[in-house]
This record gives sequence, structure tokens and C-alpha cells, in this order.
Amino acid sequence: MTDQSVSRPRRRGPRAALASAAVVALAAGTALLFASAASAATTLGASAAERGRYFGAAIAANKLSESTYVNIVNREFNSVTPENEMKIDATEPQQNQFTFGNADRIVNHAISQGMAVRGHTLAWHSQQPGWMQSMEGSALRQAMLNHVTQVATYYRGKIDSWDVVNEAFDDGNSGARRNSNLQRTGNDWIEAAFRAARAADPGAKLCYNDYNIDNWSWAKTQAAYNLVRDFKQRGVPIDCVGLQSHFNSGSPYPSNYRTTLSSFAALGVDVQITELDIEGASANTYRSVVADCLAVARCNGITVWGVRDCDSWRSSQNPLLFDCSGNKKPAYDAVLAELNSGAPPPTTAPPTTAPPTTAPPPTTAPPPTTAPPPTTAPPTTAPPTTPPPGGGGCSAAVYQLDQWPGGFVANVRVTAGSSATNAWAVTMTLPSGAAVTNAWNSQASGSTGTVRFTNAPWNGRINAGQSTTFGFQGTGTGSGMTPSCSAS
Ligand code: XIL
Repeated sequence: MTDQSVSRPRRRGPRAALASAAVVALAAGTALLFASAASAATTLGASAAERGRYFGAAIAANKLSESTYVNIVNREFNSVTPENEMKIDATEPQQNQFTFGNADRIVNHAISQGMAVRGHTLAWHSQQPGWMQSMEGSALRQAMLNHVTQVATYYRGKIDSWDVVNEAFDDGNSGARRNSNLQRTGNDWIEAAFRAARAADPGAKLCYNDYNIDNWSWAKTQAAYNLVRDFKQRGVPIDCVGLQSHFNSGSPYPSNYRTTLSSFAALGVDVQITELDIEGASANTYRSVVADCLAVARCNGITVWGVRDCDSWRSSQNPLLFDCSGNKKPAYDAVLAELNSGAPPPTTAPPTTAPPTTAPPPTTAPPPTTAPPPTTAPPTTAPPTTPPPGGGGCSAAVYQLDQWPGGFVANVRVTAGSSATNAWAVTMTLPSGAAVTNAWNSQASGSTGTVRFTNAPWNGRINAGQSTTFGFQGTGTGSGMTPSCSAS
């Protein structure tokens, strides 16, 4: 597939837009009729969206032609992660020869359905193509940075969150870095990858992603925590941490999981559960994971690693929410019920103060028995029937993604201030001669001069400190625009 085929973000499908509007209207009506019932959303994505979050799945391009599979994907999820299609061996099989065909299939499908895309993954010791596996030193460092730059640039504007670096820490009790060819290029390789990713796609959230960083008392968790803390203190660009959360008998769901989520969040990053699967798919364990995420304001999304049990990389463990025939399992019902019982997003801002300077607990200490910090405590009062007004304002930043003689494409990231928004508007004065021809994930009023973009029905709600993006295409040039944002 050529670059041209994905170089313009597509408008969100009208069917999906109507469905979202209907869900919002239905949910609002339901809340008014049954003040004590938080929600009656009937799909995972719709329920998560009501709480300012996403619920996603890892999907495979070669299954998009299976109707049972694709029906579940389209119905249930509002985010997807390519399970293998964006990995280094898939996107750069020969050095400097990039292939995006299968990844594009997933990205284009997601965009047509109005779903977010998690990019997975730019730099990793595993699933490297042969040419990279045999590289070392500065040549490898350059090749890795080139890969990050090329792939993140190609998908600029289409990725909600990138797993920039995956699985850089060792298992076991050392807390050391994994000994990989990438690590041997120098301890600063992770930082270099994040800086390159930010430069290539300034609108995407940049995540560090790993497994076995779920248990707060494990050395590997502390090592990842210290990396994020160090990056935040030194201003290295990082926006999120991904906890893969593959739970099984060797690495079970830990009772201190909520402490881990809230501790990462307190560093000032989003927390995402990126590859959730649970051996045996205990409904109670799934329910606990969802409850823990909902209790932490900056836990902004959950992705299950596959759709049906037979799609799973660990299919013998039956770890997912749908059986091999596509039927909902008890774990599905538990997840949906837990999502629906969740309170609306907290309206207070996540902590913006400097991260704690005290050392984290020793890695051998038993899990903390105290309640999680107040910023993450689940609300105990019944959710209000209407969302509280968002008085904390918002900010907006515009990124020109593409330009050509006579036209341009721009993305705008809207970030809520100290309280959640229920609705927002961004105004921007276009350069003379420029005109908006098309907008997605927002509604434009006016096309020349000062244009006002208001939220679409499904993205007015933004949690405090979190963000959403919309885009538009125009004629003329789009340089030098200064957006201003207002929220209610
Ligand atoms: C797995 C895929 O699910 C398999 O299809 C593939 O054969 C191997 O990789 N951590 C990750 C994922 O970050 O990319 C892995 O996905 C699972 C573990």
C-alpha cells in the first residue's frame, strides 16, 4: 500500500457517529430515569467512553475478513492495537525498506469505525528483523532511531498512544535493564527513542510498556517506576506507562495492583492496561482489574490481548472475554457490569506537583496495606445524574501534519484543565486565502477567517488533564494558526 492511501485522516463514519450519539443520548436518558443506576451501556467501548476511557483489543489484519470476528470488534471496542503488524520485523523487514500494508489495514479500519489506535511497538528486543538482530553499537543505534522516526512519522496524527519502548527491564530481582542489542548501544537508548518519537509525532502519547510491572513490590516494577520518575524529573518526553498485565499462575493478579496504577499515575503520566489476559478468565479477577483502573483517574484505558479465546497467543489458557464461537463469557458480563457501575470521571485535576522524592518502598517489603492515596480513592457517593460543569478550562495545540501546493491537513490536541470538560470549543483564525474543507472528530462552523470547532457528540467529555484530538483539511496554507479553547 502506498503512502498516499493513508496520508489523509478519514472522517469518522456517519454510522459510528450516529451510534455514538445514540449511546450518549440513551445514557443521558437512562441516568435521568434511574438516578441510582450509573449506566446501562451495552458494549465495553460505549461504557468506557462514558467514563472518559477506552476499552480496546489487540487485533490481527488477517482476521478482518472474518465476519464473526469483525462484528465483535466493531461492536465492542473503541480502540485497537495491531497485535503484530507494527512490530519492527513487520514494518522494516529489510533495512530502510518499510512495509505498512497490514498495519494500514488495521489503522484504516479503526479510523473508519471511529476507534483509537495504540501503536505497538517502535523499539523492542524481540521480533526484530534478521538484519537488526545482527547489528550492534552505533550502527544499531542509528538504525533504531531511523526506525522510530520513519514509522512514527508515517503514522503521525493517527496514533493515540505509541508503545515507544517495550520490555526493556530484566525479569528477576535485580531491577536491571534487559541485556539486549539495543541496551548495549548505551543506557540512554530508551531516552533517545522517546525523543525521536516526540519529534516525529508530537500529538501522540508516548508510553513505556512492559510485563510483570503489575506487582508494586516486585523489583521490575520499581525499576520501571524509577525510569518514569527520572524521565519526568529531567523533562524527557513520556506521557504514559503501559502495564501489559498478562496474568497467569506464575504472574497472578496482585492485590496491590491499584497501588501500582496510582503510584505510576502520581508521577504525572497516564496509565494504560495494554495487553490484558487472565489464565482461565476468572470473572472476579477481570472485575477487579476494571475496578482498579476506574479508581485511578489517570488509568485511561484497558486493552485485552485478543478477541476470542482461539485468537489468543495463549489460547490454551482460555484467557479472553469471548469463547471461540464469539459468545460472551462470564468474564465479559463482569467487565461490562463493573464498567457500568463506575462513577463518572473525577473532576479534580491529577497531581501536577513534582513527583515524590522519597525512595519507593524496598522491593522486598510486603505490599502496602494502607488505602491508596486520596487522589485515587474511588468516589463513595452516588454519581450525579448530570456531569458537573467543567470550570477548569482547556488548552489546544495545533500540529500541521501535511501540506502540499494548495492544501494542508492539521491535527488539534485539546487538553482539559483542572477539571473535566463536558463540551469544548476551539477557535482559530486561518491565514488569508485558507479555508476548511473537511473536519473529523469535531464540527466546524465557518470555513474562512475565524473558524469555530466544537466537540463531536462522543468526545466532549475529557477528564481533567487528559486530552482528545480532532483534525481538519483545508485549502491554502495552514501555517501560523493559534488556537484558543473554551470548555463547559
Ligand atoms: C505476541 C503476539 O500476541 C503473538 O501473536 C506473537 O507471536 C508474539 O507476540 N508482549 C508484547 C506483545 O508486547 O507484542 C506480545 O504479542 C505478547 C507479549
